[in-house]
Amino acid sequence: MAIQQENRYSVGGVMMPRPFKIRRLGHFGFNVDNPQECLRFYRDLLGFKVSDHMDFKANPQRAELLKDVEDGNAYFMHHGGDHHSFVLFPRKAMDAMGRGSGHMGEGDVTINQITWQTGSLEEVVNGSHYFQENNVPIRRTGRDMPGSNWHTYVWDPDDHINELYYGIEQIGWLGRSKPRDMYYRGYQEAPTLPQISEETEVEQAVQREIDVFSGNRDVETLPAIYNVEGVLLPRPFKITKIGPVNLFVRDQEAALDFYTNQLGFVFTEESHYHGHRIIFLRNGSEHHSLGLLPKALREELGCSSHTSCMSFGVEVGSYQQLKNAVAFLKDQGVTFVDMPQELHPGIDYAAYARDPDGHLIQIYYYMEQLGWQGQPRPKEQRRQPNGDWPESLEPLSDTYVDQVFQGPLG
Ligand SMILES: [Fe+2]
Repeated sequence: MAIQQENRYSVGGVMMPRPFKIRRLGHFGFNVDNPQECLRFYRDLLGFKVSDHMDFKANPQRAELLKDVEDGNAYFMHHGGDHHSFVLFPRKAMDAMGRGSGHMGEGDVTINQITWQTGSLEEVVNGSHYFQENNVPIRRTGRDMPGSNWHTYVWDPDDHINELYYGIEQIGWLGRSKPRDMYYRGYQEAPTLPQISEETEVEQAVQREIDVFSGNRDVETLPAIYNVEGVLLPRPFKITKIGPVNLFVRDQEAALDFYTNQLGFVFTEESHYHGHRIIFLRNGSEHHSLGLLPKALREELGCSSHTSCMSFGVEVGSYQQLKNAVAFLKDQGVTFVDMPQELHPGIDYAAYARDPDGHLIQIYYYMEQLGWQGQPRPKEQRRQPNGDWPESLEPLSDTYVDQVFQGPLG
């Protein structure tokens, strides 16, 4: 158990109000009605690569349950070293298995998971105890394969699954995931502490004569014909970061309470659009990692009524890449929709692309960064895009400050 003093907990020797501190959005996913069309959208067009794949229908024990489900394929995808930063799951199969569109809500939860990275395995395990003490419903705690991350899953008031995790598997220069023969280290419950390290696990697998290089590797099918700032890639841009996530919620106060008091998010600012309040929260120095919008805005904005997700953000490497991405995706037949600036304070230029299911993907290159005082830039000092995207931009004090993609772009 965590050391507790007057409801304060030691997080690596620093006394905090919770026994964990979320550092950043680690991964995110959708349950989709059109897995194959969505796979083309997220892999071929956006450039996520498949790290692992599984077919729920392949399990004979689920044959009866999933007999009416055409496509039971789920894809774990990555854009950098993390085993998955995005997942695509089959919605019909998830619903049939009782793991889908909201366990008590309006059946519009198409978000598979919103997953936040903590700093240690202790934080995840102590976090699960903290949720129990605070009567936050826990779906499960353990360690999932594929991906190898230790986690605990909780529901927000709108049935969105939030995951806290530590230690996701890293995809190295070979682009290969961990082989299935190493999945024996999965856990269905909270692990006892301490656990052996990943390095020890790999060494043990080698000793067992497991072929540690036999995991999945996604092979690019498109020609690398675009010069992206000096490197030839299959697309004229590269996703370098994921988030923010914007949610439509039934009760903004309940959602605000959950994300700030239970998960420890920090309030950045709120904006107003057509009389509606939009709340922006963060974990690190980014302006926001999460936006909370009232559900009443969904129709007004012309968003798909099938989902409580307003948008999922992906950051690309530069302003030029943002312009290239929009042109490339339009060329490939992707539809874009206009959204008001009030939906993304702290982001100057953003474009919203529609996936084959109707989810909006917010593509941008810059997000305002907050310093130690935790104050966002005054609104009047922000760049005010007027609809035209200029050829080039003048830098802001925090331009490219969060662009720290590790490793080559492709
Ligand atoms: Fe996850």
